[in-house]
Amino acid sequence: MTHFLDIDTTPADDLRKIIANAQAMKDARKGKPKGTMDAEQPLEGQMVALIFEKPSTRTRVSFDVGVRQMGGQTMVLSGTDMQLGHGETIADTARVLSRYVDLIMIRTFEEQTLLEMAEYASVPVINGLTNRTHPCQIMADVMTFEEHQGSIKGKKVVWSGDGNNVFASFAHAAKQFDFDLVFTGPPPLDPEPVLDGLYTIVRDPHEAVHGADLVVTDTWVSMHDPQSARERRHNQLRGYQVNDALMGKAKDDALFMHCLPAHRDDEATSSVMDGPNSVIFDEAENRLHAQKAIMRYCLGV
Ligand code: CP
Ligand code: NVA
Repeated sequence: MTHFLDIDTTPADDLRKIIANAQAMKDARKGKPKGTMDAEQPLEGQMVALIFEKPSTRTRVSFDVGVRQMGGQTMVLSGTDMQLGHGETIADTARVLSRYVDLIMIRTFEEQTLLEMAEYASVPVINGLTNRTHPCQIMADVMTFEEHQGSIKGKKVVWSGDGNNVFASFAHAAKQFDFDLVFTGPPPLDPEPVLDGLYTIVRDPHEAVHGADLVVTDTWVSMHDPQSARERRHNQLRGYQVNDALMGKAKDDALFMHCLPAHRDDEATSSVMDGPNSVIFDEAENRLHAQKAIMRYCLGV
């Protein structure tokens, strides 16, 4: 059974193959309307369940479109409409779904829900974001970086802001794809200790970004964070906003990334998001191609 649960638990060679396959599938579709079927139909006859316990635009649409382009069928399920974890155990839901579908993608809160789903499902499970990680996003981000700048190996990537789930997957990727990752943010919002050793901390954002090849940020308040923490987080993170002055410290051709959705003029200014170094919409597009390759990897097709 080949699940795609995290970047650190997927062999580096396999991650490389997924990116190469994603780029090949993207290239093969160039100029075709979005609804055109791929020349190859590796998911023909396959049914995919897309489960969302949290809101989503990109993950939901890109997985759905990706399955259809490869000839498969989808059903999109909202956590609130299911018995998941309250009407029955995760294990029982996993065993039941495995009788109906060939692949499960789940976006959930606790990592334990994902892990239990994977343990008890007899079909592959893909992590579509948990409170701890967001591996599909970072596969798309590595693909996007390499499309613009070539190999990410040895490059300097700087994360400015909250040490959250998207950062955690960047930290896993730093090891697997061999790039240097710097975290700049306030100590109360440091990444989880389990990630120690995968990145370095530089507290001053201007010093941190010096010579960067890529500058990344994300929302200051994630979906799992209590809204009551909003004001405190904004006060803690204000100095880590990615603006023109901060981007000016990076290399001239440094890229800017944000997984979206963004709160414009909080974590990043519109001038940066819409500026010449920004590749935020390429990242969003590449979710589609990267996840198609991830699904093929999981299904072995
Ligand atoms: N980046 C990302 O996962 O976006 P959605 O929350 O819209 O899926
Ligand atoms: N850190 C954000 C990412 C959203 C795609 C969240 O978890 O809400």
